[in-house]
Amino acid sequence: MTVSDIAERRDRLASGLRRPLGCVWPEPASDAHAGRLVLWVGDQDMAQSKPARWPLAKGGSADLFRPVPFGVDQRGRPVNLSLIFESMLIGSKPRMGKTFAMRVVLLAAALDPRAQLRIFELKGTGDLSMIEDSCHHYGSGADTATLDACMESLRDLYRELDSRAATIRKLPRELCPENKVTPQLSARKELGLHLVVAAIDECQELFSHPDYKDEAARLAEAIIKRGPALGIILVLATQRPDAKSLPTGVSANVGIRFCLRVMGQVENDMVLGTSSYQNGLRATTFGPKDKGIGYLVGAGDDAQIVRTAYIDGPAAETIGARARGLREAAGTLSGHALGEVPDQDGVRRSVLEDVAAVYGPDEAGAWSEVVAARLAQQWPTTYTGTTPASLAAALKPTGSSPNRCGAPTPTPGSPATGAATAATRSPPHGSPPARNVTASSRTGDGRAVADAGGASTGTR
Ligand SMILES: Nc1ncnc2c1ncn2[C@@H]1O[C@H](COP(=O)(O)OP(=O)(O)OP(=O)(O)O)[C@@H](O)[C@H]1O
Ligand SMILES: [Mg+2]
Repeated sequence: MTVSDIAERRDRLASGLRRPLGCVWPEPASDAHAGRLVLWVGDQDMAQSKPARWPLAKGGSADLFRPVPFGVDQRGRPVNLSLIFESMLIGSKPRMGKTFAMRVVLLAAALDPRAQLRIFELKGTGDLSMIEDSCHHYGSGADTATLDACMESLRDLYRELDSRAATIRKLPRELCPENKVTPQLSARKELGLHLVVAAIDECQELFSHPDYKDEAARLAEAIIKRGPALGIILVLATQRPDAKSLPTGVSANVGIRFCLRVMGQVENDMVLGTSSYQNGLRATTFGPKDKGIGYLVGAGDDAQIVRTAYIDGPAAETIGARARGLREAAGTLSGHALGEVPDQDGVRRSVLEDVAAVYGPDEAGAWSEVVAARLAQQWPTTYTGTTPASLAAALKPTGSSPNRCGAPTPTPGSPATGAATAATRSPPHGSPPARNVTASSRTGDGRAVADAGGASTGTR
């Protein structure tokens, strides 16, 4: 008799013990022989116990070089994740808690203001939008434009592998003894070795797409293999962990694995690793009520059963706003969070700077339609098709609000502390409500930038 024989019959074990299924958790003891079993019998069904509070929910920041809180185990003990030098794969059937799990990880990452975020949620429901205004790259949608942006972001990350490796190679041995990014090295801006957390929710959209799958698999595999030592952490979530939708190069090389309820051995082993099912790690034994509960492998010496911290929408918004504040204070906002949009040539543009640039020298304000038309005329590859609504959306991530008129007004002071105010408005009759945009700059990392909102590459 082995542990897997018992794990397979967990329901019978629970029945014999006269306990609800969610109270009975047999686990293999990996350091002993195949017949050694650790059995935890709780007095409360894990799925029905009160979700534990996330320790970073009410305050504090995170340091990704240290473990961050992820959830609790069957006994209510905290479970932390050490994301540094790792990559992560989350998989399950639909509606079991993948995005919620990813959200916990990404909110923790967002609370480390030094970590650059590149987030793509390929379902298009905006489940991760609370972090959008902290992101260097962001996209939400299942449309071609978002998939393209996601691919471009992966290509960019792939290029970073070589440039980061070259930087590390040139460093003196004593600064980089293990050829890995250290907290000291990642803090040195001129080296460009800051941590990057790149996440793709519903990654099967890329990996099973006829046009993208081969390139996406090649890039993701390289990033998973070489990225962690270089400070690049890739987090993937999929609801189709099968051979067609998850490249084996990804599933074989990923470090941290979290598998919520799946239906069969194949999916189980794609997420948790080869032979996991045979060794008694069976996410097939979770029931439909076990939302947020999964096997976590690679985060400690042994596999653990974890229920993720439950962070609902409003709580996530509050934490997201706090993360944005930390980044403003640290001067680490970049890319999408500063309103940069990529044009077709891959050049990133700042929407607010461009809006400010299309005003005449003495112009007090302009209708949104006029501003959109001027943008399209000046930079057609970026702004063709811009409407007042899309312009307002593009300015949104920085908190720019359509509430006041006024021509671009530079604030006195040095370029680094300068500000730009841009305003647009809409015609009064038979037209959309006024969209007067006002935004002031933050100094960011010392660059002379107007504080601009970003055009979402997604569909929000
Ligand atoms: N830790 C948790 N505790 C309690 N409930 C949870 C937890 N995590 C997720 N849930 C519940 O499960 C539901 C589904 O979660 P989520 O949207 O993350 O699933 P998903 O696997 O991403 O689904 P899909 O495949 O449709 O994207 C949530 O609405 C939430 O109510
Ligand atoms: Mg989801």
